[in-house]
Amino acid sequence: MDTQNAPPFVDFQDVWLAYNEQLLRENHFAVEAIDLQVKKGEFIAIVGPSGCGKSTFMKLTTGLRMPSMGRIRIDGQPVTGPLKISGMAFQAPSLLPWRTTVDNVLLPLEIVEPYRSTFKAKKKEYEERARRLLQKVGLAGYEDKFPWQLSGGMQQRASICRALIHEPKMLLLDEPFGALDAFTREELWCILRDLWTEQRFNVILVTHDLRESVFLADTVYVMSKSPGRFVVKREIELPRPRELEVTYTKEFSDIVHELRGHIGAIRQGAAAGAPAVPLPQ
Ligand SMILES: Nc1ncnc2c1ncn2[C@@H]1O[C@H](COP(=O)(O)OP(=O)(O)O)[C@@H](O)[C@H]1O
Ligand SMILES: [Mg+2]
Repeated sequence: MDTQNAPPFVDFQDVWLAYNEQLLRENHFAVEAIDLQVKKGEFIAIVGPSGCGKSTFMKLTTGLRMPSMGRIRIDGQPVTGPLKISGMAFQAPSLLPWRTTVDNVLLPLEIVEPYRSTFKAKKKEYEERARRLLQKVGLAGYEDKFPWQLSGGMQQRASICRALIHEPKMLLLDEPFGALDAFTREELWCILRDLWTEQRFNVILVTHDLRESVFLADTVYVMSKSPGRFVVKREIELPRPRELEVTYTKEFSDIVHELRGHIGAIRQGAAAGAPAVPLPQ
């Protein structure tokens, strides 16, 4: 595919959002002036301080919120309401405790068309698909267990399977590994890397972990708070496939330090009461 001239998969043009009419009248925007183009199949990560608008950006991307100003297109189409082409996973795995792992993974197929109307007829086939996916992320043998019988890391694997079962074109992850210990987190980085390498859906990953963003993403964006803006775009040129060993190289830690510097500058600006100065891209 000619990715050079292909239209962007995610296309934000000067997007602003105020959460309600009053805030809009007061010119109080949760995010502002977002201009962002993401290629098909690209893996992007967004880092920035709490409250800077990362989750707001996710809501705009999935059509859960409409912008106050500006234009958003996903996969060539203007966003006019909640999108079906995306899957989501959050910090809390939010599995339903009364359903087994495999039944939790099947949930989107019971809700989203075109699966919903054929769910009863094709249940066996869908269940096979869910079991294959669970095996791929290392949950063979746990398919028929309940969430409370699984560790935190296993629950998060299952919730990633649930986000991917309907083969979405885009996967949105809002701090998905934040609650896990460092070893489990790195295991899940590799699982996500492998699923993405195989299926090449678009990923938007929100994270506080700079190492995570550099290990996984093609491009890392840094957001600032008040105003909630994208202030830095950093392409990660580390070759793929990336193994965990790369995280111990100088090349890797130089990029992490560089990003850390940008975040430090933003936080200082905020502490001094001054707006963060937009940095050159
Ligand atoms: N439903 C809402 N109504 C009003 N303001 C909101 C709402 N959700 C978030 N905000 C505000 O928008 C800003 C960005 O929030 P959010 O996107 O959740 O930040 P992040 O995910 O980066 O922590 C914050 O100032 C927050 O208080
Ligand atoms: Mg958030």
